[in-house]
Amino acid sequence: MPSFAKIKSVNKTARNSGAVGKNAIVPRIVEKLAGVKDKILDFGSGPKAIHTQSLRAKGLNVIAHEIGENRNLEIHDQNALRRKYDVVFGSNVVNVQPDMEMFVWTIRKMQKAVRKAGILIVNLPTSPNKLGITRIRISKELRLYFSRVNVVCRNGTWVFVATRGILYLNLSSILGGDVNYIEGFDVN
Ligand SMILES: C[S@@+](CC[C@H](N)C(=O)[O-])C[C@H]1O[C@@H](n2cnc3c(N)ncnc32)[C@H](O)[C@@H]1O
Repeated sequence: MPSFAKIKSVNKTARNSGAVGKNAIVPRIVEKLAGVKDKILDFGSGPKAIHTQSLRAKGLNVIAHEIGENRNLEIHDQNALRRKYDVVFGSNVVNVQPDMEMFVWTIRKMQKAVRKAGILIVNLPTSPNKLGITRIRISKELRLYFSRVNVVCRNGTWVFVATRGILYLNLSSILGGDVNYIEGFDVN
């Protein structure tokens, strides 16, 4: 478990949480990939769990997870990590980690919540990124746990869609064609 000081530092980032609503790329991908029967986890949802709410309004089954002072028992499920999900997403979460130790810990927690045939979606926006994490570093970490990592970049924001099976995604069509870069890794 990270120290109180580290948890406080990630909690503070919620005030400056980047793109929300229609501009947020991760929930847009979740919406396209998840079905109404899927269980979805909004990992690091923020105190108000805005993406959880907007996806629920579209009929999806989403649980919100938070840590430290950003957890509100009326909004977040404190037992969220005891279950496995078809889709786990972290919007603006991996880029706010205070050090590599917590970065690795957070990705490990996320991947543990993904059921065997499930999907993990995370992003790397242009800022904040105090650690200077690169897309290569995120792909490398995800490839420890997933056999395929699809990567897409739109307007400077990188998005990673990781699976344990083969999943051919047309992220370019999912995102409406406004994609600058796309690649997929397969790991044996
Ligand atoms: C920048 S905010 C993003 C909030 C929301 N996901 C969004 O896109 O608007 C980052 C959030 O991730 C949470 N967070 C960071 N690391 C976490 C971890 N390991 N476990 C749970 N929540 C975490 C922080 O507490 C913070 O509320």
